[in-house]
Amino acid sequence: MMTTQPLDSCATLQWNDQFLLGYTPIDQVHEEFVDLIGQMQRAADNELPPLLTQFSVHLQHHFDMENAWMLSTDFPPRQCHIDEHAAVMQSVHEVQALLVQGNVTICRELVEQLAQWFPKHADQLDSALAHWMFSKTMGGKPVVLRRGLSLR
Ligand SMILES: [Fe+2]
Ligand SMILES: [Fe+2]
Repeated sequence: MMTTQPLDSCATLQWNDQFLLGYTPIDQVHEEFVDLIGQMQRAADNELPPLLTQFSVHLQHHFDMENAWMLSTDFPPRQCHIDEHAAVMQSVHEVQALLVQGNVTICRELVEQLAQWFPKHADQLDSALAHWMFSKTMGGKPVVLRRGLSLR
């Protein structure tokens, strides 16, 4: 049987301070997302089905949480963000069904697409929501302190 090789760990998604958006509940769920994607990138073929199941549960919770915040606070650009979540969740469900049938390749493709999708989604959509939620709950914009930046 053909097996596909996991990527070496240098090429896998890893959490770093550049992902911080300054609203702790979002940062915590994003760290979990990045950790699960990295685990799937490094996983052997036979480890993928339980990891994808775990990831799918994470993602449903992650998206439900963000969607609920957007709806309960009338976040203005909520619809395109909610639609993007729904499209990604649907892809994950489709790949879960294919992986059950033994299609490891499509699972690895999904994981790589998600690793590329996440930084853009976080930067373009989740960061605006993080600022909005921060100002709703704390007042003002968050100050994000990222290691490696020199403050002069
Ligand atoms: Fe998110
Ligand atoms: Fe999001």
